[in-house]
Amino acid sequence: MGVRKIGEYLVEENICKQDEVQAALEEQAVLRKEGVFKPLGTVLIDSIGVTVKDLDRCLKKMHIDILAQTSFFDGLSQDILEKTVAIAEQQILPENKVVFEKGDRADTFCIVVSGKVKVYLKSVDDTENILATLFPGDGFGEMALLTGEPRSASIKTLEATSLLLLSKNYFEQLCDLYPEISRAFIKIIASRLSSGNKEILNSAETARAYQHLVSTQTEVSFHPFVGQSKAIKKIINQIAVAAANIDPVLLSSEVGLMKLALAKAIHKDSIYAQGPFLSINAKSAALDSISNIANASTEGNLQLELAQCTSLFGHEQDAMPFVKTKRLGVLQVCHDGTVVIQNIDRLTSNVQEQLHDYLQTGFFKTIGGHTNIPSGARIIATTHKNLEALVKEGKFSKKLFDRLRQQEISIPPLRRRKGDLKEIAQSMIEHFNGPAGKSVKGIENDAYQRIMSYNWPENMSELEVVIRRAVNLAQHDMLTVEDIFIGLAPAQGKHTVNLLNFDFVRNIFSHKSYPLVLQIGTAALFAALFLMAFLGSQSPDENITLILVWAIWWPMLAVSWFIGARVWCSVCPMGAANDLLSRCCSFKCNVPKFVRDKGLYLSAFGLCTIIWVEAAANMPYSPKATGFLLLSILSFAILSGLFFERRLWCRYLCPLGRLAAIFSGCSVVEWRSNLSICNNTCMDNYCYKGRDGMPGCPLYQGPFSLRSNQNCILCGICVKNCENMSPAFNLRSPGRELWAVVKPEKVTSVFVPVIIGTQLFRMLEHKAVIHHLSETMGQGWLVLAGLMAVSVFSAFLYIQISGNLAFDSLTDKTIKKRELFNYAIIPLSFGFELGYQFGPLLSRIGHFFPVLGRQLGVNLEFLDFSRSLGSALPWQLFFIILGSGASLFILVKFICNRQTATNVKLNWQNGLPLALLTFLYLFLFIAA
Ligand code: CMP
Repeated sequence: MGVRKIGEYLVEENICKQDEVQAALEEQAVLRKEGVFKPLGTVLIDSIGVTVKDLDRCLKKMHIDILAQTSFFDGLSQDILEKTVAIAEQQILPENKVVFEKGDRADTFCIVVSGKVKVYLKSVDDTENILATLFPGDGFGEMALLTGEPRSASIKTLEATSLLLLSKNYFEQLCDLYPEISRAFIKIIASRLSSGNKEILNSAETARAYQHLVSTQTEVSFHPFVGQSKAIKKIINQIAVAAANIDPVLLSSEVGLMKLALAKAIHKDSIYAQGPFLSINAKSAALDSISNIANASTEGNLQLELAQCTSLFGHEQDAMPFVKTKRLGVLQVCHDGTVVIQNIDRLTSNVQEQLHDYLQTGFFKTIGGHTNIPSGARIIATTHKNLEALVKEGKFSKKLFDRLRQQEISIPPLRRRKGDLKEIAQSMIEHFNGPAGKSVKGIENDAYQRIMSYNWPENMSELEVVIRRAVNLAQHDMLTVEDIFIGLAPAQGKHTVNLLNFDFVRNIFSHKSYPLVLQIGTAALFAALFLMAFLGSQSPDENITLILVWAIWWPMLAVSWFIGARVWCSVCPMGAANDLLSRCCSFKCNVPKFVRDKGLYLSAFGLCTIIWVEAAANMPYSPKATGFLLLSILSFAILSGLFFERRLWCRYLCPLGRLAAIFSGCSVVEWRSNLSICNNTCMDNYCYKGRDGMPGCPLYQGPFSLRSNQNCILCGICVKNCENMSPAFNLRSPGRELWAVVKPEKVTSVFVPVIIGTQLFRMLEHKAVIHHLSETMGQGWLVLAGLMAVSVFSAFLYIQISGNLAFDSLTDKTIKKRELFNYAIIPLSFGFELGYQFGPLLSRIGHFFPVLGRQLGVNLEFLDFSRSLGSALPWQLFFIILGSGASLFILVKFICNRQTATNVKLNWQNGLPLALLTFLYLFLFIAA
């Protein structure tokens, strides 16, 4: 039977009605909210006039029932119970009131009548550890009375509580008179002790579970030490040897080689395996501890030292003026496990000293402690510095180094054991498959080649990021070249400003009508161009299509590459057609492997074809031919949209897109992402995949993998899809990505020579000798095709030879010299392009109104402001010299940055190829 409340007794005795009790309870609740506690009986006396006498009678009855139910007084006669209640003092206490505290002198035994109390012990930092909660019918305070000791715990009310208090004397009398009461107390105390034991056991288990949890946080599920190389076999042997003894170990390697995982491997096979595995970082643990040491007034080295000591050895309560609590160090927590000290070279000399003492004796002292504390923790230290050199410089303790180096394992960098890459990558793939929900089986050969040809300066940690992202992106059961985005995070240039930080710029890119509205505009314009090209007059003097395309659109396009990288592609009507179809009525096929691999060659061939056709059909002066050119590009874009998802045409095939991609390397803007957000915060690739009806990246790339401007059209889709605001639209030093390139791309190696070839072709095709040849052979188009072939071939040859001359002393064997030269030459080539486009701009744009007038049958001849072709020459020379200067700058940067020799000397040969091409371009323009 549960404990009944006073209200029930009053109703039972017909002193008041149930609804009156209910109303009184509600009133009591209202008062409680106002912070006033009034016992129910008092409320009833005040509200409905219950008499004090009636109330007392009921209370007595209730108290007797409660006593009868408590286990202490089980079996006592009614008389004794009544007598006990008569003698007991009643106490009503508000919420949160301390009844007594641990250590107090004992003079009463208490029984809870209503409400509840907690039994607790305070720990050193004043937190209350609850031992039990006691409810009506429970008693407390017997221990001190029986043992004569002070109170063993503190008691506090958890809500307004009514207690019955029995004096010490009466309690002792009862015990003397009724041995069954003593027996009941013994039982209770025994059960409290056993519950205390359980608590101790529980907390020990919790502590162990906690240690285990902390240890498993350093768990790496993929095995980084796989492979067949000699180096890895040696490491595996060394792990086994280190696991079999208890001596300290020193792990040394470059960054990113998973020294912590190696330490864990040693721990797992050692006798410490059942104990915890904890690591502190001499660099960042220091910072952690410092944040705990609030208002620490210490500075610099001392602060660092305190923090390191705290982490390793712990400190006593009040050890320092600004710390109030005791803290355990890892040596104590991990007394039967392994402690890893990362970046041991960062320990201050005092801490090095203390650590050495610990290694010698197995004892340490806490800060503020005076006793030697034993610990069995095994020490594994890691560093990516040359400790020997630090010892020589006096920056690291020799005796500690001597102690540690007795068992040193050094892990060679990935670039020296590339044979292991496949197995390591495979192990990572298996690991990342699970979280990504993928079942990737392996890596295609091409993709593997890409991994092999890279040097992995940040080793395993860099490879891990690349493989994780590749698995996330994988569309097939093997990773393809498409999925592998290699290259270190592009370092932010010193003079880079993220324009998305300006609201109006962010608003433009995140607006739902960008770039749609612009696409509609350009589509309307191109529709008009088509109509005029096919239906209008075919005389160049009576059709503005030619001026619009050749004297305005083309030059503007070239300028846009500098100002806005590939932004034109996002508003290009051909791309828009591709977009529209791929979203609405497409078979949505994946990109065929052939297109992925060979698309580059197709678009290079396409560029040569376009430039050749332009010359053969005299396109800048033929409206229909111009119309056909635009129409054929549009048809390819439409076909791409019909069959494939996203913009296959723009990414892989469009020759103009590729041209834009190369020249946008010179741009003053770049679209990138904040890689730390992408790699750490983003849980999904929405920027790549799209979300909530919004498509993903049209160029199959995603901002996280952008290292250059080549595959971004600034469409703003990733801004709309990324809720973490990772995309960045940077204003930068023009062409920064060219000299910052880490791994030259194949597209540049193929396309730059092709562009230079087509530029030579464009300057040579007007030459008298070509006309003469065409006339004598009667096959002008064939002569031009031959000229194109020769020009492109010469450009390839030029780049091959130039690379060797320009980088004669390049020591980085992983990069081909001609690949680097391609990047250096881009600004010069872009200078040519701007100069070339300025010719028609200046010479033909002035004819616009007269031609328009003739087309409309109105006389607008008086608006002719045309200038001669020669007027563009100064501009053309200016652009070429500017481009050449920029190319020289990149060339010098490459020469200085890519050589390990310290005193790099530039010689005239390095600049010769660049100078030759510059003079050739200048000459061709002057002689045009
Ligand atoms: P005493 O030592 O006199 O004062 C504190 C009281 O708390 C003690 O008697 C017991 O009645 C009660 N107490 C102590 N430990 C526990 C426990 N583990 N569970 C319940 N009550 C306890």
